[in-house]
Amino acid sequence: MVEIQYRNARIKLGDTDLVYEPAEDSFLLADAALKEAKPGMRILEIGAGSGFVSAVLLANLKDISLVATEINPHAARCAKANAVEVIRTDLFKGIKPRHLESLFDLILFNPPYLPTSKEEKVPGWLNYAFDGGISGRETMGRFLDDVRDYLKPGGEILVLISSITGLDVVKEKMEKSGFKAEVVAKKKVSFEELMVVRGKLL
Ligand SMILES: C[S@@+](CC[C@H](N)C(=O)[O-])C[C@H]1O[C@@H](n2cnc3c(N)ncnc32)[C@H](O)[C@@H]1O
Repeated sequence: MVEIQYRNARIKLGDTDLVYEPAEDSFLLADAALKEAKPGMRILEIGAGSGFVSAVLLANLKDISLVATEINPHAARCAKANAVEVIRTDLFKGIKPRHLESLFDLILFNPPYLPTSKEEKVPGWLNYAFDGGISGRETMGRFLDDVRDYLKPGGEILVLISSITGLDVVKEKMEKSGFKAEVVAKKKVSFEELMVVRGKLL
């Protein structure tokens, strides 16, 4: 199995025909999350993929508790092999926000963010890594509709988007959902600019 080293973490990659291979978007989100996360935090990563972002946090931060979800069973297995506690589910399904203690301080998502037509879909589970629907914002929109129910008061989200996804529309949706939205990291990569948008619950 191929492994990569990133910021003190050694991460096993799955079969890249089945599991998203960490790329510039993963690195940008992991670095932004390392800046936001503090010891003692409860952290949730949605769409863990190989487990890259979660594994980097676990390797670099003491005393965090971290759980992840992932819809692709191959990716969920890979994240488990990287010692990430992962639930194979759709977004938040199966996570019960019953008590204040079970809510999260920080929620991360590097979603499928590319506008994707029927013809552009890739076969099998890997499609979930790329397919943001016609707008590029379908999965992220569902995420933003529900995420505040899983956050502690004053909690934060970090969401990775591309300039192609439409920063203004994403910020507007975040603000409508009760967040103060701000770009906290960005990187130009060939034809697009990748950005991490932080939403702080007001
Ligand atoms: C762009 S990849 C990012 C993977 C990893 N977090 C990283 O940064 O390398 C998006 C991931 O979200 C997962 N995903 C897409 N839709 C999902 C959903 N509804 N529920 C849970 N995971 C989902 C995909 O299977 C994929 O692994």
